[in-house]
Amino acid sequence: MTITIAVAGKGGTGKTTFSGLLVRYLRDRDAGNILAIDADPATNLHSVLGMPEPTSVGNIREETAEQVGRGQGVPSGMSKHDYFEYQVNMAVEEGNGFDLIAMGRPEGRGCYCAANNMLRVIIDQVAGGYDYVVMDNEAGLEHLSRRTTRDVDVMLIVSDPSMRGIVTAGRVLDLSHELKNVIGRTYLVVNRVQGELPPPIAAKAEELGLKLAGIIPADPLVPEFDGYGRPLIELPAESPAWQAAREIANQVLN
Ligand SMILES: Nc1ncnc2c1ncn2[C@@H]1O[C@H](COP(=O)(O)OP(=O)(O)OP(=O)(O)O)[C@@H](O)[C@H]1O
Ligand SMILES: [Mg+2]
Repeated sequence: MTITIAVAGKGGTGKTTFSGLLVRYLRDRDAGNILAIDADPATNLHSVLGMPEPTSVGNIREETAEQVGRGQGVPSGMSKHDYFEYQVNMAVEEGNGFDLIAMGRPEGRGCYCAANNMLRVIIDQVAGGYDYVVMDNEAGLEHLSRRTTRDVDVMLIVSDPSMRGIVTAGRVLDLSHELKNVIGRTYLVVNRVQGELPPPIAAKAEELGLKLAGIIPADPLVPEFDGYGRPLIELPAESPAWQAAREIANQVLN
């Protein structure tokens, strides 16, 4: 059984950073095979994971759809579905103890809805071959309501320690309730906290029904690594952000 963990929340709150650290936690724990899905069309999880930019599924889908439209591309004897499946498998990159697939823009220019539905099924199939899937999502909620994401066991909503961040996190939670067949447990993670979590923020989270999994401190090593283009997955053991992320993962995944 695959355990799918999705990271969602407002823009710039630290979703990609946290997703990368979750991958590291699972890898270090030797929990099984891991697929990281970069579901943000901006494609940047690879840099946190220390990998080159992968060719996205969106690019592959578009190229394939164009080839198919011209009556070329699908090798004879292969169905369109099998060909897409082959292409999606080609987009899976092997990292150091995990795999990565980047979605890019699966909707592409115009909507090839049949192709997109097919793609969703195939990604679920690919992901089904892993013990853990960690999905870094784009900011906002639209992808959830469009159901471009696969079913989720644990959703972690990342927020900054601001009222606006928490209110946005509350909206994500409301949506996850509407989609209750799709999303299992949901937790709040407050990132980049200076010192203690301000009590009004904690009170607001509780009022909105957000279950706090933990806080991640503001850690100067994070922007330092980002500034030098060093992968955050290599943060040293003494990094407070890594320590806190690991603690949160340990709590919500066990
Ligand atoms: N705990 C932390 N301490 C200090 N800086 C942090 C921390 N977490 C993240 N950052 C910084 O915050 C910025 C945003 O982080 P990140 O890219 O992970 O956010 P995001 O939610 O994925 O953004 P987007 O919505 O654009 O995808 C980065 O510059 C990163 O260096
Ligand atoms: Mg991001």
